[in-house]
Amino acid sequence: MKVFASLMILLTLWTPYRVQAQQTLDAETGLIVDEGIELIKTYCLACHSAKLIVQNRATLEGWREAIRWMQDQGLQKFKPETEARILKYLSENYSPDKQGRRSPLIIENWYRLN
Ligand code: HEC
Repeated sequence: MKVFASLMILLTLWTPYRVQAQQTLDAETGLIVDEGIELIKTYCLACHSAKLIVQNRATLEGWREAIRWMQDQGLQKFKPETEARILKYLSENYSPDKQGRRSPLIIENWYRLN
């Protein structure tokens, strides 16, 4: 009985940890907490909210292009190792194979409203 009780306690303690370990969101920005998040918070939120980042998915190349485009808007240039860390964060946490909250809708029949 004692063993069973300890097992139950272990299980209850362990379960929320597992769920959390998969993906924790930063309360302030909604960004996925992972290595490199501080760089995103420092450099990517000066002009717009993190929502623009969170709702996007791209490959590493895609994110590199996004950074280039942001640089045309005024984002500073980075040292290669800083850019690599930013790209690692973005491409691992916001990659095309990580779905958003729901899969895209598949619309089979469009209809006119008028
Ligand atoms: C100098 C200002 C500035 C900075 C700094 C900046 N952005 Fe942007 N970003 C913009 C502007 C302007 C837009 C377009 C906003 C709009 O469409 O309303 C944008 C849009 C975006 C979008 C949406 C693009 C789309 O196609 O919908 C993403 C994703 C994005 N930024 C990511 C980033 C990331 C990642 C960083 C940090 C590396 C960053 N931004 C830093 C100016 C900036």
